[in-house]
Order: sequence, then structure tokens, then C-alpha cells
Amino acid sequence: MPSKYILVTGGTGFIGSHTSIALAAAGYIPLLLDNFSNSDARVLQRLNNIIGTTPKLVEGDVRDTPLLAKLFGDYDITGVMHFAGLKAVGDSVADPLSYYDVNVCGTVNLARAMKASGVKTLIFSSSATVYGEPESSPIPEHAPFAPANPYGQSKAMSELILADLHKSDPTWRIARLRYFNPVGAHESGLIGELPQGKPNNLMPFVSQVAVGIRERLTVHGNDYPTPDGTGVRDYVHVMDLAEGHVAALRHVTDNPGLLTLNLGTGVGASVLDVVNTFERVSGRPVARDMGPRRPGDVPAYWADPSQALATLGWKAKRGLDEMCADSWRWQALNPDAYDRRTRPRTTSTAV
Ligand code: NAD
Ligand code: UFG
Repeated sequence: MPSKYILVTGGTGFIGSHTSIALAAAGYIPLLLDNFSNSDARVLQRLNNIIGTTPKLVEGDVRDTPLLAKLFGDYDITGVMHFAGLKAVGDSVADPLSYYDVNVCGTVNLARAMKASGVKTLIFSSSATVYGEPESSPIPEHAPFAPANPYGQSKAMSELILADLHKSDPTWRIARLRYFNPVGAHESGLIGELPQGKPNNLMPFVSQVAVGIRERLTVHGNDYPTPDGTGVRDYVHVMDLAEGHVAALRHVTDNPGLLTLNLGTGVGASVLDVVNTFERVSGRPVARDMGPRRPGDVPAYWADPSQALATLGWKAKRGLDEMCADSWRWQALNPDAYDRRTRPRTTSTAV
């Protein structure tokens, strides 16, 4: 019998690679599409070490219409998880057109290829960034859209486009998953996040200080109206997120419709909570300085994840200790994160 695949766009990236493991563990066959704009082909060997087989990979761009037509023609694809996209808030302010092109046009191009081939099951990577600065926390899914930058706008627009698509044809099965702050790594330490250059995000920065790549962390503000004055976020382990995707896929497969869910823990942690936990579980000091607030930062927010529990039976299982321990294991085992300056080209599957 020919294999049936789940197409994973952005499949060699941080969340896509971890979700490919969860898919394989659940008996699905992931087929990865990636243009390597923010990932490394060496992740494939690592996935092989974890899954026991190297996932098929197509190297290419999600905006490439002929490539997608050929991909859906060549493989028996039953559903799609769409991770491919750009995600740096600051870059999106400097270069909004690239963000709208990759994130919005990429989603439209993918959905069009799916429609043409009759594949109507789509799990879409959205973000808590669509809520902007929320009125209060925990944030429920019905909180208003208020994206504060082009990245957030691109996710909100994509969500609206998918809602219209579903309205036009209710036999689509679409899940829009709004992630809070994904961190951590697979417990093996073989795959993890690969930030380019100086990390913007807290956890990779803390890891790089702990391993000695960077000298000191700057805490962006300690005068917020939070218990210790530092920013509060809902950090969620990437393997919990990955399992949430599989649960969403199963759900929409059985229930056509448009599903919108927060994926978070429902628990807020401050910058100092993260740093102190990281020091404790890694046994490494994380030197830090208090600095001014980062422009555009929200003081505190966290998810109301109760809908994901009610609908999918999904609940994040891993706490902050595990998130920090797994981030540290990945960083400690891969201090140069593959040294991407010497990244080899991939051998991709031709389609
Ligand atoms: P990532 O950069 O590690 O992964 C994205 C992958 O997509 C990369 O492998 C990249 O090479 C690939 N890609 C980018 N543009 C492409 C294109 N045009 N065609 C084909 N491949 C392309 O990022 P991630 O953290 O794994 O994020 C995955 C998705 O989740 C993104 O859509 C992101 O916006 C969303 N998201 C991420 C976070 C987060 O904090 N990591 C939070 C909320 C939502
Ligand atoms: N922080 C520091 N020092 C640093 C980096 C971050 O103190 O060097 C603080 C921030 O000020 C914030 C917290 O750590 O209080 C978390 O910051 P991150 O940059 O890790 O994450 P954000 O919450 O700013 O944003 C992340 C993603 C966005 C996504 C958003 C959605 O980067 O893409 O979560 O929840 F939209």
C-alpha cells in the first residue's frame, strides 16, 4: 500500500522538527518541506537517530506554486501542518513586505495547492501575538485581535483567510493553534532551537550565557507591575506543543470545522523565574544585568488553555524545570549549534 503522508512545512525548523517526532510516534509519516532559510539539513540525521528513519524531505519554498502542485501530485498527502514562516518581531517591523509575502502569501499558496488536490486538513501555526497587549490574563480564545507589529498582523491575516476558506467550504478541517512561548528541546538533546546570531528570545540567550557563548543576560525591565518586576510569559515545552499538534490533527480528522485553540500552560513565569530555574537545573551561573524595558514588550500575559483540554484532552505536562533542563541539554551537547557557518547543502528528494 502506498504511504500516506502528513506534509510538514517548515519541518526542519524548531517546532516542525519536534512535531515530526510526535507525528512519527503517533504512527503518521511526516514529509518535510523547507527552504532552510532558518534551519539546518543536519537535523535530518538527528531525526533519524530519534525516530529510527530519516523523514523524506523536499527542499523548496512554500510560495513556489509549481513545486507545491508537483508535491501534492507525487505524494499521497492526507493532511498538512504549516510551520514555514518568518517569526522575528523586530525584523518584521524593518521588513514588513517579506513577512506578508512569506507568512500570508505562503499560506494562501499552500491552501490553494491543497484545494486543487482535495487535501482539506490543515493545522496552522498561529501565535499569542495576535492578542497584542491583552486586557487581562489568562487570555481566552475569544479575546480580540490586536496585533502590534507586522509579524502579528501576518498571523492574524492568515487566520482570517483560513476562516474565510472554511466559510466557503465547510468540509475543510482547519485548526488555528496559538502558541504562547515555545521553549525547551527534545529530551535526547539531539535537536533544539537554532537561533541565528544573537538571540532575541530569553531561553536561547540564557542557554548561551550558561554555556559561555555570551557574557551576560540583560533583563529587559524590572519595574513592571509583576511580583518581581520582570516580564511574565507562558512558557510551553516544545514537545508539549508537538503533542498538541497531533491531538489537533486527530480531532479535525474526525470533526470537520474550524478550530481555534491556545496552546500554553496557563501558568506565567517571570524572567527571573526562568533564570533562577535554569541556574538550578543546569548547575551553571547565568550572569545578568538589569536593563531598561524593551520597546514593544507587554508586562505580563499567559494563556487560558482550558479549551484545548476540553476539545482535545490536551494539557501541557512539562513544567519550567523540564523546559530549562532540556534547553540546557541541547545547548550543552551542541555548543556551536551545528556551527551554521559551515552548513552543508542538503540532499533533498527531487519532486
Ligand atoms: P523556525 O524558524 O525554527 O522554523 C520555521 C521553518 O520554516 C524553518 O526551518 C525555515 O527554514 C522554514 N521556512 C521559512 N520560510 C520558508 C519558506 N518560504 N518556504 C519553506 N520553508 C520556509 O521557527 P519555529 O519557532 O519552528 O516556528 C514555526 C512556526 O510557529 C512559525 O510559523 C512561527 O511564526 C510560529 N510560532 C513560533 C513561535 C516561537 O516563539 N517559536 C511562537 C508562535 C508561533
Ligand atoms: N527578555 C529579557 N532579556 C532577553 C530576552 C528577553 O529580559 O535578552 C524578556 C523579555 O523582555 C520578556 C521575556 O523575556 O519579558 C520573554 O521574551 P521573549 O523575547 O523570549 O519572548 P516574547 O514574549 O517577547 O515573544 C515571543 C516570540 C514572539 C511571539 C510571542 C508570542 O518571540 O514571536 O512570544 O507569545 F509572538
